[in-house]
Amino acid sequence: MLKVFKNIFIIFARHTLQFMKKTEKYQLLYEQIKALLGKEKDEIANMANVVAIIHEAFRFWWTGFYRVIDNELVLGPFQGPVACTRIAYGKGVCGTSWKEAQTIVVKDVHEFPGHIACSSASQSEIVVPIFKENQVVAVLDIDSEKLATFDETDKEWLEKIVGLF
Ligand code: SME
Repeated sequence: MLKVFKNIFIIFARHTLQFMKKTEKYQLLYEQIKALLGKEKDEIANMANVVAIIHEAFRFWWTGFYRVIDNELVLGPFQGPVACTRIAYGKGVCGTSWKEAQTIVVKDVHEFPGHIACSSASQSEIVVPIFKENQVVAVLDIDSEKLATFDETDKEWLEKIVGLF
């Protein structure tokens, strides 16, 4: 029975999202993701669903995870066009976020030295690191085809969302 209510909640949330402001959207997304992750421990399954929810809610250009594997970032679950498979430590926005262990908001990717252009359509970007025992284990990377899409609100809520892992 609980499962039925959970599913109704998720479907209701999907349809309501498109009419909401950014903060309200994130509030709802956060609850939706919390319910969806539940007790599921499989990291890839959770990343796949989180990416799908965020991507659908905001219709970003590209939404995905890179995981730290053998001292490199390796492409994980994503939605959007084909992307670079591996990114070195300290390279691009993703590698820099990993190295600095902090979220990076890029208003214009053309002004970020060393930005890796997986797609020429991408204009702005946010990368949020995910921590396990104080180590960065993955990053959430979101690209927009518009300039200055991301701000402090995205940073705050996306950090909260990846904190659910
Ligand atoms: N732009 C990223 C590379 C990953 S793609 O955007 C999906 C970077 O500079 O690290």
